[in-house]
Amino acid sequence: MITGQLLIKGQWIAGKGEALSSVNPATDDLIWQGFTATPDQVRDAVAAARAAFPAWASLPREARIAVLRRYQAHVKTRVEDIAQALSRESGKALWETRIEAAGLANKVEVSIRAYDERTGERESKTGFGRAVLRHRPHGVCAVLGPYNFPCHLPNGHIVPALLAGDTVVFKPSEETPWSGQILIECLQAAEFPAGVINLVQGAREVGAALLDQDIDALLFTGSAAAGAHFKRKFADNPHVLLALELGGNNPLVVWDVDDIDAAATHVVQSAYVTTGQRCSCARRLIVQDSLFDPLTRAISDLTAKLIIAPWDHDPEPYMGPLISARVAAGAQSRVADLITRGAKPILPFDSVGELPEAFVSPALLDIREAQDLPDDEIFAPILQIDTAPDFETAVKKANATRYGLSAGLISDRAGHWQSFIHTIRAGVVNWNRPTTGAAADMPFGGLGASGNHRPSAYYAADYCAYPVASFEADQALSVLAEMKGIRA
Ligand code: NAD
Ligand code: SIN
Repeated sequence: MITGQLLIKGQWIAGKGEALSSVNPATDDLIWQGFTATPDQVRDAVAAARAAFPAWASLPREARIAVLRRYQAHVKTRVEDIAQALSRESGKALWETRIEAAGLANKVEVSIRAYDERTGERESKTGFGRAVLRHRPHGVCAVLGPYNFPCHLPNGHIVPALLAGDTVVFKPSEETPWSGQILIECLQAAEFPAGVINLVQGAREVGAALLDQDIDALLFTGSAAAGAHFKRKFADNPHVLLALELGGNNPLVVWDVDDIDAAATHVVQSAYVTTGQRCSCARRLIVQDSLFDPLTRAISDLTAKLIIAPWDHDPEPYMGPLISARVAAGAQSRVADLITRGAKPILPFDSVGELPEAFVSPALLDIREAQDLPDDEIFAPILQIDTAPDFETAVKKANATRYGLSAGLISDRAGHWQSFIHTIRAGVVNWNRPTTGAAADMPFGGLGASGNHRPSAYYAADYCAYPVASFEADQALSVLAEMKGIRA
């Protein structure tokens, strides 16, 4: 069992707040135990980040890159042990957590490219001298992480922020404190100056205490409800930059496809990968009438073959458990609500044999006759299938959501794609690829209730620094010639 610690001003210390623990959702074993940060410790962490900011921000870019490259080298040596810890804590299959762990080091190179391309320095000659564009860091960034990618997603905020010259106070999800601690251990191994990175642990109260401090930015990945709360909270503090990466009620349209089995693979991967715990997972499937029967059969056949098991099971699982039995019970009550509104289970949302309660089966709900369905994200492997009389109506149904994170079209017709890509409102829009396709060298973010137009991944550079435009001349020469209305 791992002992939980906080990192404040370069020192690992115990939290002085309430007991906090983390269990393996596949076994219910206790794997990490510690204490939350008290409000005073949160204040100390922000004060440390504030004190470290001027020196860190004024280092040349190369010096910050040198420290990040030490992190990159260190994290590369720990890929396997990070992957195992991620699997133990989040329940995700090892094939998935190995990808997440390996991606941590890659983030450094991608972030350097993005920093130089999107927020570097540019200079152009003018009649008086030059116009220069520079970017400056904001200051102290609070980073709040989710549980579904507990290292990859915070890393996607923290690395670009540090590169830009910001300092960081990170609070991981209370569901995955161990993964958060490991991420900070790896950064700390690179010997950042004390206070540049800080770690506090705890649930929402600790997050709230962090946001009550004097911070310059909140870099957040999590639920739409929390994101909306933060918009309200900071409405009177517009100087605090908010980068909000939130959830979605993502549509997938299947229309005019020859290979139904191939289409079913896209549907299953879009809806059920990571046990439905990806923000980009498809939640709604909209198909033409003639495809409803063959496609639901093909989805059912493929779903029956998915291995649902603990992360280290042999053969390897497609899906592990949800993050906790509590989350599984919450999803179960959301499904019960959909059923009272007329949804009919084609594949029921069930527990899985003798496995612990966090393990669930992938569900497919026929909503053709359902009424008044809530436009909400259910963060679990639950897909609602509907039909439309024509393609235009299918796209209208796809767009009938307050969210706008990801969307997909499975179709053999290029004309449908042309119409889809120009009509659908989402930040990730894929054609004949699962909705969960994402890449470090592309932006990742959503519209509407899914974010605040500050996408992450490659575009994280944009929200980690602000642009400064300067018009410069080496000598103070008269500008009289540029002034109008002056008597001779
Ligand atoms: P969550 O919003 O419950 O929690 C995220 C973090 O914010 C946690 O650290 C939590 O303690 C903290 N937090 C939540 N409410 C808070 C409050 N009122 N005050 C202070 N801190 C608060 O999200 P989650 O359940 O951990 O993660 C799943 C959600 O994240 C899903 O909705 C998913 O779609 C979304 N997500 C979005 C992206 C994206 O890039 N758009 C990626 C992954 C996950
Ligand atoms: C997600 O789908 O939850 C995040 C995807 C990513 O950043 O790769």
